[in-house]
Formats: sequence, C-alpha cells, structure tokens
Amino acid sequence: MEFLGSCDNGLRYGIGILILGVAIMTTTVTSKYNVGGICLDRPFKIRRLGHFGFNVSDLEAGKRFYFDLLGFFITEPAGAGFFARHAGDHHSFALFDKKKFNERQYAGHNVKHFRPENDINQITWQVQSVTEMAEASKYFRDLGVDIMREGRAGGGGSQFHLYVWAPDEQIFELYYGIEQISWNGYARPVPMRHGTPNPPTEPQLPDYELVRADIEKGINVLDGYRWVNPLPLKYSVDGVRLPQPFKITRVGPVNLFVDDYDTAMRWYQQIAGFTLTEEVEWQGERCAYLRCDNEHHSLALFPKAWRGKLGLSDKTSNMSFGLQLANYQQLRAAVTFLRENGVRVETNIIPPELHPGIDYAAYAFDPDGHCLELYYYMEQVGWDGRPRPKELRQKVDPNNWPEILEALSDTYTGEPFIGPWA
Ligand SMILES: [Fe+2]
Repeated sequence: MEFLGSCDNGLRYGIGILILGVAIMTTTVTSKYNVGGICLDRPFKIRRLGHFGFNVSDLEAGKRFYFDLLGFFITEPAGAGFFARHAGDHHSFALFDKKKFNERQYAGHNVKHFRPENDINQITWQVQSVTEMAEASKYFRDLGVDIMREGRAGGGGSQFHLYVWAPDEQIFELYYGIEQISWNGYARPVPMRHGTPNPPTEPQLPDYELVRADIEKGINVLDGYRWVNPLPLKYSVDGVRLPQPFKITRVGPVNLFVDDYDTAMRWYQQIAGFTLTEEVEWQGERCAYLRCDNEHHSLALFPKAWRGKLGLSDKTSNMSFGLQLANYQQLRAAVTFLRENGVRVETNIIPPELHPGIDYAAYAFDPDGHCLELYYYMEQVGWDGRPRPKELRQKVDPNNWPEILEALSDTYTGEPFIGPWA
C-alpha cells in the first residue's frame, strides 16, 4: 500500500467504499496510524488468538468432551456456560449453552445479526495496549462497523475488549490485558473486576493498584472461583500426571466457512490486518491461510460449498478449531484416547494440501459435530513472509503415521507454553 502522508491517529484520507453489505462496509483504508511509534494501516496490531468458543446444544455433553476429554480446565461458570483455559489466560475457550446464548446475544437490535449456523461464541484476538483498544473503538466506529460491546469485561477476564460483527455476522473481539490465573488457581473475585461499558478515554490505573485498593476495602482475593477437577490422574504425560495422555499448549488456528470469499479476504486483511500466507486451489475454488504472527496461519477462510465436499457439518459456519498439543507423541496418544472414549477422530477427512503449515493433523468431532483440528507442529514464517516450499514440507501419509519423525528447521519453535502444564 502506498504511503500517503503523516502517520497521525485518525482517518486522514477517508475511505473508499467498495461494497455495502447489510451493516458492514468493505473498505479500502488509506489512512496511516502511529502505533507505538510505528506507522501502520490501522491503529492496532493483532498479536495472537486469545480465545474462542462454541455454543452447543447439549452443555453436559459438551462439558464431558471439552473438559473431561480434551482437558480444558474450567476457570469459572459464566451464566449460560463456562470460561475455561489451557494456560494462564483467564479463558482460552468458552463453552456456552446455545439456546441461552442466542436468547441473550440476539435480543433487541442485535436480532438482525442472528444466523442459525453461527454457533461460534466468539473469535478473540489480543492487541498490546490500552491505547490500541481505545483507538480500535474509534476506528471500527469510523468505518461504520456495528459495535456490539466495548469497555472492560465485568463478566470474567477483566480485559479491555471490543466486540464487532465481522463478515457473515461472526463475533469478532479484540482485547488487551486478560486476567492471568496464577499458581493458586483462583479467578479474580467479581467485585474486583472493574468492568465498564465505556472504552478508555484516559490513562488507566495498573491492575496492581486496583487490587491494592480493593484489598484495603476489605475484599478477600480468595472469594473468586476455584474449580476442583474431579478426574483421576491416570496418565503420565512427559513426566506430569494428568487425566488425559496429552496437553493442549496453544489454541487456534480458527478455520471458517465463509459466504463470500473475496469479501471475507478483504475484511480480514484490510480491516483487521491479517497477512495472507498462502492461498490453495482445490476442486476449482480457493481457500486462504492468514497469520498475525510467525505461525503459518492463525485464521483460514474456506468457501461454504466445501462443507459438503469435505463431509463436514452443514449446521455450523466453523470448519475447525485448532488445538496444538505439546508434541507428536501426545498427538498420537490423543487419537487413541479419544477413540477409546467414543469420540469420532479422523486422520484423513481433510486432505493434507488443505492444512499447509501443519503436518500431522487429527480431526476430532464434538457432540454437536464441530471439528477440532489436533496437531503438534505449526510452520513458522520468517522475516521475508514466505512459507516453506511445498517440496520441503514433511511428507504426510494421513493413513499411516510413523512412530517417530525427523525434526524440521522449525520443529519446537514458535511461542512456547509458559508455566507448568497444569
Ligand atoms: Fe472474549
């Protein structure tokens, strides 16, 4: 994109409207923004997937699948569902009752955003400062994007957040500063959350100062929720005893089926700032793999017509939600464990050319038919932005997984898991 002028915050050069949707404009942004002294095309930079969630028709069955079998750890109940985590973030996964969520979410003026096949609870990305959040609120407002919620979360996580409607009415959130669950496993007590519906307009007190003042008021920090996991610790997992023979170490990528590929591509690249890593053509149509960091893809877009071609559920606009496990050995153990527990797991339902950047992948299906992409390796993209040439990738026979693999140049690289596994 051509550099058009000085790098002030704000829309300096206006917006070229290409397509007017029902409520969302697809635009070419020609402004520049100063983000921490760096000139960017938007006033924030998405750094990673923070959390994601599903709304399910049977919450009890969902709990068994996501918490008992996959090993997400409940942080606390959340009205119509649960916030859960795999690491220190207050939540990396949300599981909600679909009926209750829809009644609440699509009430009032939001009813126009309802689509029966949208059962993703949220797709949520981290930015790196309060200022990025404040400026993001203005940015989306100026673009005419419908804002669902902003300010600071009072319902759990205490992050500064901004929810907007992305293409196909997907619930897209940006946040800064989600609560970290520490060694003692207690969530932040409700009266200490400092939720507000208003975006920040002035510098915020740091959390340690808010916490100090709350403790002085007499609030007990141990009044927060702490889950007791009832499951037996049956497996030795690389030296730790866990209820499952594997550990989720990262969430994502989020793979979406989209109504209009070009509209979605424009929005996620130009409005949200994702970088295209590669497109793949399959059966005469294209799909796209986009990133926000060094991983080959954090988000992928697929035409909806592929749901049937791939034999995936036509009841959801989600293609798959990725879960990275600690290593290949654990991935193999997960396939066996999930199958033993009655879960449908396929290794050959998605052809390897449709998961570039990931070598061995297993696809597990939740009780609602959502597809979970289990993997252990994600190709890392360096400074020149070029993915590994196809011929240099691991050769994968989806029907015949070897016991041990040769290392690649980027095996066990990328953002590491921080802290103990559990
Ligand atoms: Fe969220």
